[in-house]
Amino acid sequence: MTVADLAERAIAVLRDNDRGGYTVPTKGLYPFQWNWDSCLTALGQSHYDEARAWTEIETLFAHQWPDGMVPHIVFHVENDGYFPGPNVWRTNRPTPTSGITQPAVAGFAVRRLFDRGKDREMAGARAKALLPKIDAWHRWFYERRDPKGEGLVAILHPWESGRDNSVDWDAAFERVPTDGIEPYVRRDTQHADAAQRPTKAQYDRYLWLVQHFRSFGWDNAKLHDASPFQVVDPGFNAILIRACADLADLAEALGGADIAARNRRWARRGVSALESLWSDKHGQYLCRDRITGQLVDSASIGGLLPAFAAIPAGRLATLAATIERQAKALRFTVASHDPADPRFEPKRYWRGPAWLVTNYMIADGAHAQGSAELAERLVRSSLKLIEQSGFAEYYDPVAGEPCGGGHFSWTAAMVLEFLAMAKHG
Ligand code: DGY
Repeated sequence: MTVADLAERAIAVLRDNDRGGYTVPTKGLYPFQWNWDSCLTALGQSHYDEARAWTEIETLFAHQWPDGMVPHIVFHVENDGYFPGPNVWRTNRPTPTSGITQPAVAGFAVRRLFDRGKDREMAGARAKALLPKIDAWHRWFYERRDPKGEGLVAILHPWESGRDNSVDWDAAFERVPTDGIEPYVRRDTQHADAAQRPTKAQYDRYLWLVQHFRSFGWDNAKLHDASPFQVVDPGFNAILIRACADLADLAEALGGADIAARNRRWARRGVSALESLWSDKHGQYLCRDRITGQLVDSASIGGLLPAFAAIPAGRLATLAATIERQAKALRFTVASHDPADPRFEPKRYWRGPAWLVTNYMIADGAHAQGSAELAERLVRSSLKLIEQSGFAEYYDPVAGEPCGGGHFSWTAAMVLEFLAMAKHG
């Protein structure tokens, strides 16, 4: 397949999933707007329609909560094909949304749209309007998810990490009960192979948490302390830290001195706090369970994602060596879990498969910090995977087979990004 063919196919996927003001991750499995999917999808759209890319993120922020949170799903339409829908979340919003959040990529994405915008006037005006909204979301994170001011925020639900069924959550999930869950029927397994999705035991706990938070009327002033699941995920924090640093740069360029100073402070504090999650034994960062105070013995991609933030050069070099070591057991990098761990499952969602979005964030950070070799390896591996297996949700990193949903927006968006990286170096 030629580069032009690949780009054309990626754009066709994005256009096909475009619902006007927002893009669905894929038809069937995910029929609404997802937070981090949208922000990363906008990067792909910016290669062929800048105005449309801005709209993607603006639509998401039009559904920001008054307290600053940006929800992980916006239910723009009714669709029984997805569970859990608005009647389970019951968040009482004008347009129904979920009640939890997702990785804060918006600050990074908006800065990138601004930097590459050919229409400078439009880029300036639209970035400026989003600045205070993204700043409010960042403030919400540090107020509501870091009540003791540690510099790192906790997730209260695995869905917030975006890495739903990672091994990272197994131990903490032992503490989440399953009594009193309303009867439910999963829909995801009607669209995708059940062997490539989370288990029923995990779904029970996902739902118990949703019902628990709902019983507090989704009051974010109460949820952190009331949750039996509070995990500090290095990947989630690294994305937020990068977004704060990018928002600070953007605010400086656009005359928002307060926003810049605040976000710079959060980013700096976050980078030093990440050190407390470092594991010499694994050569990467680990999650910390905030309830027990212990590091979680699980070498997942969450602990490699800090490459996306401005971590010390020595740490980045060790992460690169860890990725290299793992790659010896794989055909495609980066696996979402260490293949040497007996808990590694190459086809099950976030317990092993490779994802283009995580490859992209690691490659981007590596590139920005002068680790060109790692960045190039990831670009090559990602494009080879697509040529072989198409625009899937995720891929078996050993066999290269496509897994989960097909015709996936953020995969297509990342292909356009990787093609641009391959061209410009
Ligand atoms: C799902 O339904 O699988 C999503 O990941 C939750 O956001």
